[in-house]
Amino acid sequence: MNEQQRLQSQQVNSSDKKSDQDYSKYFEKVYQPPSLKDAKKRGKEEIQVHRDFEIPEEFLGMGTGKKFYIRTYGCQMNEHDTEVMAGIFMGLGYEPTFTVEDADVVLLNTCAIRENAENKVFGEIGHLKPLKMKNPDLLIGVCGCMSQEESVVNKIMKTHQFVDMVFGTHNIHRLPNILREAMFSKATVVEVWSKEGDVIENLPKVRRGDIKAWVNIMYGCDKFCTYCIVPYTRGKERSRRPEDIIQEVRHLAAQGYKEITLLGQNVNAYGKDFEDMKYGLGDLMDEIRKIDIPRIRFTTSHPRDFDDRLIEILAKGGNLVEHIHLPVQSGSTEVLKMMARKYTREQYLELVRKIKEAIPGVTLTTDIIVGFPNETEEQFEETLSLYREVGYDSAYTFIYSPREGTPAAKMEDNVPMAVKKERLQRLNALVNELSAEKNKAYEGQIVEVLVEGESKNNPDVLAGYTRKNKLVNFKAPKSTIGQLVQVKIIAAKTWTLDGELLEKPIEVK
Ligand code: 5AD
Ligand code: SF4
Repeated sequence: MNEQQRLQSQQVNSSDKKSDQDYSKYFEKVYQPPSLKDAKKRGKEEIQVHRDFEIPEEFLGMGTGKKFYIRTYGCQMNEHDTEVMAGIFMGLGYEPTFTVEDADVVLLNTCAIRENAENKVFGEIGHLKPLKMKNPDLLIGVCGCMSQEESVVNKIMKTHQFVDMVFGTHNIHRLPNILREAMFSKATVVEVWSKEGDVIENLPKVRRGDIKAWVNIMYGCDKFCTYCIVPYTRGKERSRRPEDIIQEVRHLAAQGYKEITLLGQNVNAYGKDFEDMKYGLGDLMDEIRKIDIPRIRFTTSHPRDFDDRLIEILAKGGNLVEHIHLPVQSGSTEVLKMMARKYTREQYLELVRKIKEAIPGVTLTTDIIVGFPNETEEQFEETLSLYREVGYDSAYTFIYSPREGTPAAKMEDNVPMAVKKERLQRLNALVNELSAEKNKAYEGQIVEVLVEGESKNNPDVLAGYTRKNKLVNFKAPKSTIGQLVQVKIIAAKTWTLDGELLEKPIEVK
């Protein structure tokens, strides 16, 4: 089909779509909507590792002279998926652009964790419509977590028919095929699989910087916390083989990266799906800490699976940093039960005690949800008291947002929104108070900072993070960017620290 025919078919298609209510027949689908029931029945399905990913020869050069733009919403997992998609685009010959007006393909890599994340994406899809009207050759795609939701796919088909592609989190490696189909298809191309199970290696990646890098160690989540959409959008837990992870980290070290963050929705479940060996996150960290790279982090932890072996390895220090993000969600055992977190307040506090004992000076941060259905004032106050007792350095705090298809969304809720908002404010006041207190204690101390670049607000000032993930602003020559330096803290703010550069940069082999 030539460009002229394509344009005609698109025009015919868009008017056709409008006149018909049964929009489903207008999308070319490889679509199995996620089902809560099926997801919960997950068993020991075989996980296949594909090591042979390559962009098929027929697609090479497909993007020559064209530009792509990807807007990313949500977590680090999504950010990293964007790096993979950018790698595939570049492999196809596309070039990146930083403005949508310039782009031949625009992808929205979406997040489904809370309703406001979804609303933002729908707003953005609406903004793209005039661009598509002006340039019918522009391809618009929606991918990421929202495209794994049946209701979202239906809404796009019904009210945003100018979207050319919808593809899911398990279909990223199919991007070349999806793009080609979208170029030639009359209809919106929908490729969403609810049946996952594979791990694809050798995907190309264009990383966002050359100082810090993300490395996936596992995909999916089998925890099924009752409020959470992730087990449905990201599929079942499946771990990458240690040898593949270690090879990737070694390669990044050789390239000069200074900090690696190991990624997974529930990294403490790493290795549980291996049938041929007993191997967990502690074992993996024990191997990775021997690689010559200054800093290793991991996120996100689930307290239930955080075992003694991991604590024992983290206590060895070295390049394993003394900061752990340990989402608690609530300080009340009853609420934790309704959330199906599978630990009690006491068990969480005991874990914190063990971690603090093994790793002196460890910094803890957390995630908290307020206003879970029927949360009482007393239960909320238990969250406040737990926050103080643990002494977190900071927290991400959220008002509970019902997600269609999750068990919590079916619970009746007697907590008015005004009460939830007020609880969030009270919690945030405590978070700020403790954060300011913790930062104040840094005044006069000398910390190691990995210099990342100019500070956001002042190009004459550089910014970087400590091992414990504190943001430090200080004056230093630009040549220190990418280096580890010693900084003396002179003033603490609520969220950041101001410092003075000391001596010369620490040598990094
Ligand atoms: N409503 C509010 N917050 C949520 N989170 C996950 N699901 C929801 C929801 N439905 C929060 C949790 C999680 C973080 C990534 O997002 O605190 O740890
Ligand atoms: Fe969601 Fe995290 Fe619970 Fe998994 S462990 S269901 S990703 S909150």
